[in-house]
Amino acid sequence: MAKILVLPGDGIGPEVVAEAKKILLWVQKQEGLDLEFEEDLVGGAAYDASGVPLTEQTLSLARDADAVLLGAVGGPKWEPLDYAVRPERALLRLRKELELFANLRPARVYGALVEASTLKREVIEGIDIMVVRELTGGIYFGEPRGVTGTGEARKGVNTMVYTATEIERICRLAFEIAKGRRKKLTSIDKANVLEVTELWRDVVTGIAADYPQVELNHMYVDNCAMQLVRNPKQFDVVVTGNLFGDILSDEAAMLTGSIGMLPSASLAASKKGMYEPVHGSAPDIAGRGVANPLATILSAALMLDLTLGYSDAARRIELAVENALAKGLRTADLTGGQGPASTTSEAGDQVLKELQTLYQ
Ligand code: IPM
Ligand code: MG
Repeated sequence: MAKILVLPGDGIGPEVVAEAKKILLWVQKQEGLDLEFEEDLVGGAAYDASGVPLTEQTLSLARDADAVLLGAVGGPKWEPLDYAVRPERALLRLRKELELFANLRPARVYGALVEASTLKREVIEGIDIMVVRELTGGIYFGEPRGVTGTGEARKGVNTMVYTATEIERICRLAFEIAKGRRKKLTSIDKANVLEVTELWRDVVTGIAADYPQVELNHMYVDNCAMQLVRNPKQFDVVVTGNLFGDILSDEAAMLTGSIGMLPSASLAASKKGMYEPVHGSAPDIAGRGVANPLATILSAALMLDLTLGYSDAARRIELAVENALAKGLRTADLTGGQGPASTTSEAGDQVLKELQTLYQ
């Protein structure tokens, strides 16, 4: 039996997670999958209930689970809070404690949505990029960190630090992923300025010999930001550190038309994983039932595939999403302000309908 911990979180989190769960429960029944669901609070919702964004009890449920399905955390309500209890801390702690060192963010353009991108059709048609972001190291966790001193003497510091072991672990995974795709790996650094990424480049280059099938190239992060909008089709798998990956994955996401489409997986060496949409809690539209649930539905598909080993069911869900889009499913983020939009639950129903057809 596989245990799934569902953490809907804040803002639109509960709305989009409800649709993903609707799909999962149907597939479970249809295929007779041995899944057990538990649900708990995280982020601002947990803070409101207990004064911390992630309780020890929730953390231990997450440790016991095979996979975590998370909605989103944060919102203006909690922005004035002390840094240590901000909703985002829950995410960072879950990543660190569960050793989810590998963040996979696939960005692909659906044919039906080419027009939804702000870029020209010929630039983005057919792009399929996998951003592999290191998730438990780098400047997000480096010491020393913090703000010291008073008045004009105040000083803020964060530290970008990577060990060769951390670099090797994420890059080997990226090579493996590239082997199963178009066999091209681009490693992103700022080796012309930052020594830590000079080490990064050195380590990646060193292990490349073990993956002769894969073509490795290196790119500075500023150039990568530019190339992503200039010629995104040159990319297959992109591997990079925590901070650069955070930034570049948002950029890659937006190429596809809407950040509401992008799923993500955060994996430990054991293949245990946390799955969440790349988008945030979108407090501006929360509670209105208009959010796009597709990124969360696709995250649930990734979970079935990468952690639970049900890759056929995962493919079917992905295909159902694609078919629903082809038949005109558009939530408000995808209409460009024109034409009628599906609500969150209508979108979930439309995907479910396509899924049912695929099982007939
Ligand atoms: C992301 C988010 C998080 C990050 C925040 C919410 C802590 O931007 O998952 O990309 O910076 O990693
Ligand atoms: Mg981010």
